Amino acid sequence: MFVDKFNDAPQLITFADLYLRPGKTNTDPDNISLQSKITKRIKLQRPFVASPMDTVTESEMAIAIARSGGVGVLHRNCSIEQEVAMAKRVKRAEAFIIDEVVTIKSELTIGQAKDFMRINSISGLPVINDDDEVIGILTKRDVRFASNDSLVSEMMSKDLVTADKNISVENAKILLHKRRIEKLIITDDRNKLHGLLTVKDLERRGKYPLSTHDEDGKLVVGAAIGPFDEKRALALDPYVDFILIDLAHGHNMNAMRSASRISEKIDAELVYGSLGSQEAVEDVVSTIENVAGLRVGIGSGAICSTSVVTKASAPTLYSTTQVASKVNELGLDIPVIADGGITNAGDAALTFAMGASSVMMGSMFAGCRESPGQLLAIQGKMMKSYRGMGSAAAKSVRFALDRYSKPAKGGLAEGVEGYVPFRGVVQDVVDEFTQGLQAAFGYAGAGSVNEMWNNAKLGRISPQGIKETKPHDIYPNVNTENYSLN
Ligand code: XMP
Repeated sequence: MFVDKFNDAPQLITFADLYLRPGKTNTDPDNISLQSKITKRIKLQRPFVASPMDTVTESEMAIAIARSGGVGVLHRNCSIEQEVAMAKRVKRAEAFIIDEVVTIKSELTIGQAKDFMRINSISGLPVINDDDEVIGILTKRDVRFASNDSLVSEMMSKDLVTADKNISVENAKILLHKRRIEKLIITDDRNKLHGLLTVKDLERRGKYPLSTHDEDGKLVVGAAIGPFDEKRALALDPYVDFILIDLAHGHNMNAMRSASRISEKIDAELVYGSLGSQEAVEDVVSTIENVAGLRVGIGSGAICSTSVVTKASAPTLYSTTQVASKVNELGLDIPVIADGGITNAGDAALTFAMGASSVMMGSMFAGCRESPGQLLAIQGKMMKSYRGMGSAAAKSVRFALDRYSKPAKGGLAEGVEGYVPFRGVVQDVVDEFTQGLQAAFGYAGAGSVNEMWNNAKLGRISPQGIKETKPHDIYPNVNTENYSLN
């Protein structure tokens, strides 16, 4: 039996083991579509996901990556209230129609109106009566030279331009232009205030044409929870588009049963992981009926020490192959998220060749300006800190938050802490990966993610051949001025 085990040990392929073989293409790289999905419902124009880690994704990262066409998953190394506040911040960052509108009553004074405007940093207040009907609008222009004692009712403009809540972006633009106004009051069918639409928000929308947004024009965001944290799931549910069950070893039947109960109580979609085998897929889909995404990869992350301390590993490329094949075989449409160890667009391209729908990255995004943490200068190099969520430091935060609970697996650390090079803003990283992926898809003869699944062919080279496929026999670039023989 042991001999069989030994003889049957499969190769756990990693990114270094495979290459894409060239295939026929009819598409220029710039025209290759990277459109994909992270869950059954959520489409991404750029298939990149920021990891739920406390040195990677808080509101600022989630906003930046959603604007660039990807999506972020908020980490859970904080209180429920803090995670909810992060989600709310993302949802408030952009909206086609602002639904939390600051209003004022007509019997208040201009002095009070000015205070409202200053405190909330806004330039216009809809005036409403006791029945929530809009009876006027008061803008900065109306109050600029007015006495603080005058009443809102005397200064407000009663010539209102309102629109129905179902107005399209195009019609809103036409109306704002025709009436030369900056704000459009949106009412419901009983003339009650529903929201406000501003020129500024429309302009912002034009600035990020690839952004990942929901049907209200708000940015899409996901949030991580522990597998048994139903309270957190219910608190986050109104403010997030998907909830990710954040577990290192997802093939855990107790965790699956709990995730299944949670999924029945929330409106957000549920993403489950991390998985690394075909058997795990069978158990997940038979336990969590409405699972909407699968996160795969165990032990490949830049900060992972799981494979070192436990000798357990399902490298990301291997896991992607196993999980995507089983999903396919079962005829299911559940996007696979390849997570861990991706260091360049080529690694990402290999996961698409093996059936992934998106790639999750920690280290690449930890180095961005929008990740939490300070920019540091270490030995003359710009760096940002990055640590595993299973590292001693990250676990101690979790332990401090809930001193009465025993941290999972006691004090065993399965992650390390360190620094990653500063990479500029998120948009730079997304652009770099976009160009690299489009080039890789082009070589592989694929014009889309779907074609990559179907067309990409792979090849292996011998360990001796690796040298030839990397830059070789050249000295690194140095300043040659002083050595010129001419
Ligand atoms: P990269 O390579 O993109 O990997 O930085 C990010 C992924 O690594 C996982 N992760 C961990 N794995 N111990 C682990 O074994 C840890 O402490 C740890 N923290 C994060 C996670 O899947 C993440 O998305």
